[in-house]
Amino acid sequence: MDNHNTRLTAMAETTTPDMLNSFEPCLIEGKSDPFTLVILGASGDLTARKIIPALFNLHLNGTLPDPLLIVGCARTKMSDEDFRDKMKKALINIKSLDNQKWETFAPSLLYRIIDYNDFHSFKNLADSLRDMDKKFGTMGNRIFYLAIPPSLYKSAALMLGKAGLSTEKTDGNGWSRIVVEKPFGRNLNTAIDLDRSLHEHFQEHQIFRIDHYLAKETVQNILMFRFANAIFEPIWNRQYIRHINIIAAETLGVEHRAGYYEQAGILRDMFQNHMMQLLALTAMEPPSIFEADRVIDEKVKVYRSLRPFPTVDLQNYLILGQYGPGIIDGKRVPAYRHEPGISVESLTPTFAGMKVLIDNWRWQGVPFYLTSGKRLNKKLTQIVIQFKDVPHSLFRRTLGEEIAANQLILGIYPDEKISLTFQTKNPGAKLCLRTVAMDFQYHQNYSGPLLEAYEKVLLDCMIGDHMLFWRQDGVELCWSFLTPILMECETCQDLSNMLLPYESGSWGPIIKKTKRE
Ligand code: BG6
Repeated sequence: MDNHNTRLTAMAETTTPDMLNSFEPCLIEGKSDPFTLVILGASGDLTARKIIPALFNLHLNGTLPDPLLIVGCARTKMSDEDFRDKMKKALINIKSLDNQKWETFAPSLLYRIIDYNDFHSFKNLADSLRDMDKKFGTMGNRIFYLAIPPSLYKSAALMLGKAGLSTEKTDGNGWSRIVVEKPFGRNLNTAIDLDRSLHEHFQEHQIFRIDHYLAKETVQNILMFRFANAIFEPIWNRQYIRHINIIAAETLGVEHRAGYYEQAGILRDMFQNHMMQLLALTAMEPPSIFEADRVIDEKVKVYRSLRPFPTVDLQNYLILGQYGPGIIDGKRVPAYRHEPGISVESLTPTFAGMKVLIDNWRWQGVPFYLTSGKRLNKKLTQIVIQFKDVPHSLFRRTLGEEIAANQLILGIYPDEKISLTFQTKNPGAKLCLRTVAMDFQYHQNYSGPLLEAYEKVLLDCMIGDHMLFWRQDGVELCWSFLTPILMECETCQDLSNMLLPYESGSWGPIIKKTKRE
């Protein structure tokens, strides 16, 4: 009887999390050591659009160490004041600027001219950084952020090393880290070559290969959702799942990045990195503990299990497209080939749909459909887990055979949410089913500070945490998977036939016959 009462009381007192008053903000623990962030490529777009705004927001949240110096370096001639003005304008372009806060941030910005191929230039930088350490107390700790074109990565890393800036805990140096943006090479060989150059002076623990997708809140949440709940893992496999769709659609076109994009195309720009990370997070086994190397080990196992593309039957596994003119957000936009800087004969794909199979026990026979493209109908990033149909439809006489199977949507953008669809009976005398959804909005009931992807990446680099970065073995395995496809596409005679045109503002090329299930 006592037990019965206890159970009843517990049931009566049970509240859903939504009914709890408030959630503790998930605050950042501690601050990193003082350090100097050296941005190579400080006159470029990435610095103005991503790095400085991220640092300024971290400054607003009070999460930056004190002292912190941000030393912009580039070939352009600029004074500290010019650099500050340029960065201030960039911030104003993004959102309204709190002038008082800016005044407290601006003095940490300094500027030095650099020639990326000249040893003396790096030697001067090294001397200058040592002087700054003495003057400001930054303890010889440094992060070198390569915000330069990939063609300069090797020489910049070598020069930093030769100038004595990669060694740690000697010659007045504290810790030293180097941040590399994708692309990590253009194919397997160039990726290995780049890595060799980085490793000439830097050790693996000093290298941070960025993938900003990993730092998105909802992407980080995939592992929490899968492994901090007991009820999803038992059905997260080929017994229950029919296929998985991973989509990263954009409305943006190539913008002003013609030089880069003509070389990269959608496969190098989105698949070799972001799409492969989303795939790994969805498909990986649980690591024994939530530690960077253990988590990355499990992702790497997924890459090792990727079934190589059958190059003979490529069109059943890969669709490539290029956008034509069309309408986006009510405005006419030009075809890719008429974008500034793009050749009118360009055969660069701006859309790809890929069927990927993972040869392991859990996923045997479950296709993963990866789709990404520019100038599509809307910006949408999500992972859709399509469960199998009910094994036997006992409602078939009344409802026919059409019972929609369950779907779990992990929304990354624009809806940061998790949504599970299922069937219920419609209220009323007649037997009708309807599909309904249980939705969780990611920021529901949370009022703490939010971190943009670049803010999280920078914070993790400051504390030396590799969890959200690529490790070289993963980079190479993904290139091993994609390089044969790229070679096949880039060398085949009929790439122009393979490259399907699609209208800007549509959902990609229209495929007459699909082999999808
Ligand atoms: C970048 C690609 O890595 O990711 C861009 O180079 C793409 O081409 C961007 O537009 C998409 O990122 P997000 O965060 O806007 O989905």
